[in-house]
Amino acid sequence: MKAICVTPGVADSAHLKEVEKPSINDVPDGRGVLVKILRVGVDGTDREINAAEYGAAPDGYDYLIIGHESFGIVEEVGPKVTELQVGDYVAATVRRPGNSFYDQIGTYDMTTDDVYFERGINLRHGYLTEYYVDSPEYIIEVPSRCRNIGVLMEPTSIAEKGIVQAYEIQRRMKIWRPKKAAVMGTGTLGLLASLFLVLRGLQVTSFGRKVPPYKNAELVEELGAKYISTKETSISEAAKEHGPFDIISEGTGNSGVVFEAAENLGKNGVLILTSITGGGRNLEIPADKINLDFVLGNKLMFGSVNANREYFEIGAKDLAQAVSQFPGWLDKLLTHPVQGLDNYQQMMDLLTSAKDAIKIFVEVAEE
Ligand code: BGC
Ligand code: ZN
Repeated sequence: MKAICVTPGVADSAHLKEVEKPSINDVPDGRGVLVKILRVGVDGTDREINAAEYGAAPDGYDYLIIGHESFGIVEEVGPKVTELQVGDYVAATVRRPGNSFYDQIGTYDMTTDDVYFERGINLRHGYLTEYYVDSPEYIIEVPSRCRNIGVLMEPTSIAEKGIVQAYEIQRRMKIWRPKKAAVMGTGTLGLLASLFLVLRGLQVTSFGRKVPPYKNAELVEELGAKYISTKETSISEAAKEHGPFDIISEGTGNSGVVFEAAENLGKNGVLILTSITGGGRNLEIPADKINLDFVLGNKLMFGSVNANREYFEIGAKDLAQAVSQFPGWLDKLLTHPVQGLDNYQQMMDLLTSAKDAIKIFVEVAEE
């Protein structure tokens, strides 16, 4: 079968490769699930891997099959698989357990190991190929009504983990009644975070750079949320009018925005950080002021990476709710389809050049 691969450490090395089709017997004890891949989404991580800034091949390989946002259909299950059936639509988690205590209890996204294993990213092959085999532990059923937007499951899991953990952390408040939320960034992650906060009943303000008319701004407003261009209104001006923000979700990829968000977090508020900033930027920030406000306002910020199956399951439910509550909205995030694995070069080009893209994805196969 075909696979889109890179040679880690070599820039612009994306290429198509013929690899062996996996078998359900690759997973021991009759627990293998063979999934036919239908669609795979791509994001900045894939771009960084192809730029040789990130990513590693599995042991014994000199290439890495990329792609970590999978959507597929179960084609065969081992005799000891009871959780899934042939014909189920599914998405798979990205990280696989290492050795720490947290890995052993199913929370591999919270690993304390230095090395982490992520399919399509680090030390494990990914999903930009025709089939994968895994244990049902890592495969989540996607409701059939979400079939058209199932490729959003992985970014959904990332947005959900941040929000769900924020609520868990806020149990420190005994009774917490968040009313207003802000979302930094209106790419795929920002739009999904806006959606999930709206579904939880919050009044959401989403910040982007572009001045409307702007498609992502329209998408925000279709949710009943407010879009603000930071070119027109600063975050702190907007916070005066639309805050105080009880919860802020940050995922712009720009560490400068993190501290602006911190400065504009409401009392008792929580700031979720999800940007993977691989650079080495140094900044001057009003450190005393931010610290003082955090102390006097009992504020907190926390980092959130990856997601275990719990957040995929919550995500599947929220996506299903969104399909009914905002019909057609999620479909509009799927802006840039690429037809087939053969067009990997177009996929990579879009990742660097398509400024208006929300989700770029590969149509790998028909059902
Ligand atoms: C992926 C996450 C992953 C992170 C760090 C992101 O692009 O969506 O699943 O944990 O990169 O590698
Ligand atoms: Zn990603």
